[in-house]
Amino acid sequence: MTRQNIDLQDEILARLVCSDGFCKALGERPSRVRQLPLASEPDSISGRVSLSRPSVFRLAVSFDGGREEICILKLKSERIIKNGIELINCDRSPEFQQKLEAARSILGYDGSHIRESRFYGGVASSLGVYLPSFIGSFYDAETELYAILMREYGSDRAPNVKLLLDALDAITDFHAHYYNRRECVDSLLLNHHTTDVYREQKGILLGMLDRLEAENAATFSPEHRRLLYDFALHIDEHHASLPKHETLTHNDFTPRNIFWRKSEIMIYDWELACYQCPEHDLVEFLLFVMSRMSDGEIVSLIEYFKEKLFSKCGVSFDGETYGRILRFNLLEYCTNRLSLYRVCNKELHVDFIDELAKNAERLLTLMKI
Ligand SMILES: Nc1ncnc2c1ncn2[C@@H]1O[C@H](COP(=O)(O)OP(=O)(O)O)[C@@H](O)[C@H]1O
Ligand SMILES: [Mg+2]
Repeated sequence: MTRQNIDLQDEILARLVCSDGFCKALGERPSRVRQLPLASEPDSISGRVSLSRPSVFRLAVSFDGGREEICILKLKSERIIKNGIELINCDRSPEFQQKLEAARSILGYDGSHIRESRFYGGVASSLGVYLPSFIGSFYDAETELYAILMREYGSDRAPNVKLLLDALDAITDFHAHYYNRRECVDSLLLNHHTTDVYREQKGILLGMLDRLEAENAATFSPEHRRLLYDFALHIDEHHASLPKHETLTHNDFTPRNIFWRKSEIMIYDWELACYQCPEHDLVEFLLFVMSRMSDGEIVSLIEYFKEKLFSKCGVSFDGETYGRILRFNLLEYCTNRLSLYRVCNKELHVDFIDELAKNAERLLTLMKI
């Protein structure tokens, strides 16, 4: 393969494609690699945070003998985290900057550029039916870029209520497999927010709430606003009162990271994977899909998730305890990820973030929180 065969504007990408790591991932040296236009423009939040540099490329890889494969190359560098921190500290406060630089694992993005390749390389093979076929990953020391090479997929259909239930069924298989198996934190390089992490880093959550005062006044009822602030202030105590109920979660589980195919559901973009309550994935999923649903439909999704989870994990909680688990996860989502999206959105202007916040207010009301 010669450099001239590669029709790539991006020099860094060209270097990666010529590297030994790329050929090793493919198993043999390609005779030609062409960059193709993406089937659809990626519309992810982290894509926006990475600013001008695209992170997903579509490649036609040809081999001697005429075989050709279409692959997706996903690039990540630590730069995305630095860009994100700048967006969170929207008023450039030195005090808040100090907090963000001291420790910020609570936000979930530290290490995200390497986590996904570790995940695909190490996740239980029985869960592979839900994952895109992973060809390999490699690191380019000169550019400090991690790259993942995988097969290309797409969605054949739009999700209806039945498919939403199928997605919940699929994710609870992940939850059940790793249920209370803390060792996966190390083997899959997962985030893990312990009570100590919440205690030490809750200042970041409070700092984001401070920066969202005007936005929250327009979205949440006065009671919910007070509740969010009180919750963030005592989040470590709330966390300590939860039963032992943690597992591998996707932690970015939205229809945007699912391929809806005729015969299967495929879940991708595992870079934020985290060891925490499985209900985190439920809450996030609901906030993304509930806009056009009736209250009854939302409640039926919650019930479906609970039944699947309890039967697959062989656990059960009384109504009060399970209510506490749901409450923690919804409030944690509102004060952590949703706050992060909303602070960043002051600059990014991603259209669906406002809708997410409205859904959060509705879900707080529906769940009588
Ligand atoms: N295996 C794949 N096949 C086809 N398209 C993909 C594949 N992986 C990612 N993409 C496209 O790239 C976008 C961004 O990839 P994703 O893994 O979700 O990263 P992020 O959301 O962190 O930028 C996806 O929304 C999708 O449009
Ligand atoms: Mg994504």
